[in-house]
Amino acid sequence: SHKGEGLHGISLIRPCFTGDNIKQDIVKARRVTKMVNGYRDILVLYHQGQLHAMDPRCYHSGGALQYGDIEEFNGRLCIVCPWHKYKITLAEGEGLYQAVEDPSAKPLITHWRSKGVKQRIHKVTEVNGNVYVTLNDSREAIESDVYQTERYLLLNTT
Ligand code: FES
Repeated sequence: SHKGEGLHGISLIRPCFTGDNIKQDIVKARRVTKMVNGYRDILVLYHQGQLHAMDPRCYHSGGALQYGDIEEFNGRLCIVCPWHKYKITLAEGEGLYQAVEDPSAKPLITHWRSKGVKQRIHKVTEVNGNVYVTLNDSREAIESDVYQTERYLLLNTT
């Protein structure tokens, strides 16, 4: 798990978002996209008192997750991609789907299942109103990585 990793690195990176009241600005905007460390786009979102950071383009086909709704499925908060409604957990980046146990059963019984981690989640920390993002540098490929190319980078980031 990437959780906790990079904590030691926080002092090494500059705050990604600085200003008099940057936390408040993000809280107000709810969604902010930003290039971090000069090469990786991230989406920071605020929901129910928590900041989350992840790759901004959906692992499925590159949908812009900053326009997705946040909903709870099977007790887990997910961003729902606006393009084809894929559900991605905010905490781990897992793709959730509803599996049918027995297609001949009436009514159909479905269960939530995980496809595993599909979206790269980054660590976001707030210190004294500044907001820091520590990139999740796990070497294992994660499907959302394929959209971190020049072609897809968000050109209108601030
Ligand atoms: Fe996100 Fe298809 S691009 S669900």
